[in-house]
Amino acid sequence: MSEREVSVDRTPLIVGNWKMNHTRATARAFCAELGELHAERPLPAGIEIGIAPPFTSLDVVGDGLAELPVFLAAQDVHWEPSGAFTGEIAPGMLSELGCRMVIVGHSERRHLFGETDERVARKVAAVRDAGMVPILCVGETEDERDADRTRAVVESQLRKGLGKIQPGAPERLVVAYEPVWAIGTGRVATPQQVEEVHGFLRDVLASIGGQAFAGGVRILYGGSVKPGNAAGLAVLPHVDGFLVGGASLEASTFAELVHLLGGAPETGA
Ligand code: PGA
Repeated sequence: MSEREVSVDRTPLIVGNWKMNHTRATARAFCAELGELHAERPLPAGIEIGIAPPFTSLDVVGDGLAELPVFLAAQDVHWEPSGAFTGEIAPGMLSELGCRMVIVGHSERRHLFGETDERVARKVAAVRDAGMVPILCVGETEDERDADRTRAVVESQLRKGLGKIQPGAPERLVVAYEPVWAIGTGRVATPQQVEEVHGFLRDVLASIGGQAFAGGVRILYGGSVKPGNAAGLAVLPHVDGFLVGGASLEASTFAELVHLLGGAPETGA
């Protein structure tokens, strides 16, 4: 524990992952509402805020967020720059639309669509090559946790996911710990469970790229994050923010989470 370097440079980060939700019309409405909320009570400075809409709404959300301190992210990507890959989206297509980050290796991609660690590693490298930041997701299933394999699983996913990049430049990587049993289930991991895994992931990062690297990589928690549980997680030393699914779909709830992470005082307005 004492050997862990806890950097002061880890700007808190929150990213909303809309998954396969919101049409272009409702995405536009979300952005308009977030803009109104921001006018009433500015989103906190000193944290980074992102939204990852479906590909079909990237342009709409990019436009809708243009005046807000919120950046655009994507939910997935292919690793090749172009070619005969029907249905896929290349990294350069995402950066052209203004995406700054890309979620890679989400458990729904791994478990529902057969995404392998090898593919995840290629995507991580391709996202960085295109000048964007990958949000590499790792997390154990309930069976793996029950079998006491949580550490082995997340370590393997992390090491393999980073297998095709040079560590360095910690600001060019985000890791998200998302226990599969906590995603969309309402069963949030306890602060103790979260801090234990986040601390462990930071130790693995240190063994991969050294203390300075590990101390600068942001590790997000994801899995049923809501306004009612976010404050207790945000204060944990190794939690640098959140990857939020369901609670990111409504602008008011998402804004509430942003304020909780930013630690902004209540305005009473
Ligand atoms: P959830 O999803 O917040 O709806 O649990 C989180 C995620 O899958 O990123």
